[in-house]
Amino acid sequence: MEQQKRYGHFDDQHREYVITDPQTPWPWINYLGNEDFFSLISNTAGGYSFYKDAKFRRITRYRYNNVPMDNGGRYFYIKDGDTVWNPGWKPCKTPLDFYECRHGMSYTRITGKKNGVEASVLFFVPLKKWAEVQKLTLKNESNEVKNLKLFSFEEWCLWNAATDMENFQRNFSTGEVEIEGSTIYHKTEYRERRNHYAFYHVNAPIQGFDTDRETFVGLYNEFADPQAVMEGKPRNSHAHGWSPIASHYIEVTLQPGESKDFVFLLGYIENEQDEKFEAPQVINKDKAHALIAELDTTEKVDKAFAELCEYWDALLNIYKVRTGNDKLDRMVNIWNQYQCMVTFNFSRSASFFESGVGRGMGFRDSNQDLVGFVHQIPPRARQRIIDIASTQFPDGGCYHQYQPLTKRGNNDIGGGFNDDPCWLIFGTVAYIKETGDFSILDEMVPFDNQPGSEVTLFEHLKISMDHVIKNLGPHMLPLIGRADWNDCLNLNCFSWDPNESFQTTENVSEGTKAESLMIAGLFVVTGKDYVALCKKLANGQWSMVNGQCDFSAEAERMQAAVDAMIDAVKKHGWDGEWYLRAYDFYGRKIGSNECEEGKIFIESQGWCTMAEIGAEDGMVAKSLDSCKKYLECEHGMVLNNPAFTKYIYEYGEISSYPEGYKENAGIFCHNNPWVIIGECLAGRGNDAWSHYAKILPSYVEEKYQTLHKVEPYVNCQMVAGKDAFKPGEGKNSWLTGTAAWMWYTVSEFILGIKPDYDGIRIDPCLPETATDYTVQRKFREADYEITIHPNGQQKGVKTITLDGQPISGTVIPYSPGKHIVEVTM
Ligand code: BGC
Ligand code: NOJ
Repeated sequence: MEQQKRYGHFDDQHREYVITDPQTPWPWINYLGNEDFFSLISNTAGGYSFYKDAKFRRITRYRYNNVPMDNGGRYFYIKDGDTVWNPGWKPCKTPLDFYECRHGMSYTRITGKKNGVEASVLFFVPLKKWAEVQKLTLKNESNEVKNLKLFSFEEWCLWNAATDMENFQRNFSTGEVEIEGSTIYHKTEYRERRNHYAFYHVNAPIQGFDTDRETFVGLYNEFADPQAVMEGKPRNSHAHGWSPIASHYIEVTLQPGESKDFVFLLGYIENEQDEKFEAPQVINKDKAHALIAELDTTEKVDKAFAELCEYWDALLNIYKVRTGNDKLDRMVNIWNQYQCMVTFNFSRSASFFESGVGRGMGFRDSNQDLVGFVHQIPPRARQRIIDIASTQFPDGGCYHQYQPLTKRGNNDIGGGFNDDPCWLIFGTVAYIKETGDFSILDEMVPFDNQPGSEVTLFEHLKISMDHVIKNLGPHMLPLIGRADWNDCLNLNCFSWDPNESFQTTENVSEGTKAESLMIAGLFVVTGKDYVALCKKLANGQWSMVNGQCDFSAEAERMQAAVDAMIDAVKKHGWDGEWYLRAYDFYGRKIGSNECEEGKIFIESQGWCTMAEIGAEDGMVAKSLDSCKKYLECEHGMVLNNPAFTKYIYEYGEISSYPEGYKENAGIFCHNNPWVIIGECLAGRGNDAWSHYAKILPSYVEEKYQTLHKVEPYVNCQMVAGKDAFKPGEGKNSWLTGTAAWMWYTVSEFILGIKPDYDGIRIDPCLPETATDYTVQRKFREADYEITIHPNGQQKGVKTITLDGQPISGTVIPYSPGKHIVEVTM
């Protein structure tokens, strides 16, 4: 293989990815913050911060898709004689003597060296604090005294990230700041309805500052050569309107060998209405002072950082595997779980591909993200389920998205995505299996956030199932609505108008025959879960306080609906070698050998094999074989084949993409795990593993440092498929359901450690080459050490001993305490 350029490597011991060349093929980013205050940070310190909601509470400004790419961030300029440089190389791009960026668990450390000076910045958001810490350490490694001029830089966003980028006739007149000692306060719109402000502080006296962008940068200069920095002279500017910024100026003298720490703090504060001001026009800074006081020394900051590291130690101690294969272990133990936390926090709102203004939390997205996160912090997962369910309508339909700040459904996208309701079952069942907490079903949850409309969460699950049953088409398969999981299969849209949104346009739906096999499979999988849950409840697992339900009857009712769906799929959803994908508005087949293009689609193969529909008739095996034959390529499985080569009015957005990209035959990593789980259920461990390894970041890391382009430590949403101009190129990294699905697949189906109501089910599905491995699994109040001896078998547990005693069946019954489990296959 041709030797490719490397930009970095994994450091498993520190749980870091170490970037050694700032000119990565694309900004390689990380996320700071775990709740409430968040930041995105690239390997050159680009990015921005926000409080809870990347649209409504954007704290610092960022310009997407700019020239140069990744323009704007938290920058430190060091002027050493005539040389001006930044520890993260950008924006000055002065060649450095050394550069390193270490992305870790919720922190990033960037170090640069130039002419005998080392500057190292540790960026993180302390637990439970609304602030980003930037601890800068300057060290003189030369033999001479260094007199440095240090400038910090942040640019304020005028809070609403959408209007900040468009309403300039207003924005250029609203900006306001206050300066007090070493703290610069941003208070735009605080005089009227906002009860929040931000600040940028440093724990040292400053010798100057700037708060007006044009004064600091100069109208004809850039971030790369701000005139105040180039001249070594701050202007002490006070912003009135235009674009407020925050820049501190500090003169630093360092003796040979000496080092100094500076703690910069970017904070966010909310005040009560009657406590907003300390004097007319002067903001009340009490809370800011208090926050600063908590983080104004190196010791305090180091302690906060140690706490953050302990927090991650604890989270990553819940599920730990030792297989002896570093590439697998590092993904399972570190990066996959980390990405799951990130997707849980952000859904699809803010990444370097998601602008933070378009989409909030997705109903289907967040339910899926839960499955990757629920073992980490169950109480947060619980709250999320309630928040999601609160955006449902009484008929079981729901808002497709909601805003994290308000938790209200987004009217501009609305509802009508007919797979959405099923995902609520998926998420809730995962939560109960992890925690054993059936009481969540008793929670009173409103519809559309309307007080007074509350019913139990169980009732929400019931109407979710019913929503599918009440919306069946001519083949007794689920009507697709605006779209199912594939947002781009818009079968009731019929748009010739480029100004219309594929997602919200439904020009015709009356009389539609558009049905989805993906929802059919999803309904069978979640329907079986729902039936099992009802049976558990019928057995008195849970006494319903807030409602009455005959759970046995309910289980029977839904089992009948599931059986009917299975029949419908067998009768009308099978194409001979694979499952059909859908029926269009007119009732014509989609994803059939009869079609000219798009003969086979991955989603229905995934869901119908997970549902094991027609396994007894060989349908599952045939479908899985067809995926290998028609969808698989070097980089993973493509979504559909052959790709669409022209726009099809009846299909919508899917056919709008050039061949090989996104939903038109891209490798949509999210749905590869569905087929992999299908393979696991069918016991085909070799095939499951080979599909899995193709999209496992650490496996593609070496080969694709340049081709893949995006971060090699996380999954991206889409890798260009075999029909694309450049197969193997990745896009849309970080915020993708792929994270949760990769986790669910490897932890539960490949390694085979599956939480269940009464304990942990052990059912691995492995390649023949797998050797003995051990999983350390904390589960409720128990701690299991589970060693699996595969003995060359792909599937099938032969014996299990629990603390030395043989048990029958494959479920280790739950009991608190430490346990040793041995499994032979
Ligand atoms: C993308 C989909 C996405 C949808 C969300 C489409 O343009 O291709 O992946 O789900 O937008 O709005
Ligand atoms: C990304 C969206 O976030 C998700 O909801 C959707 O299912 C996929 N794209 C496929 O279209």
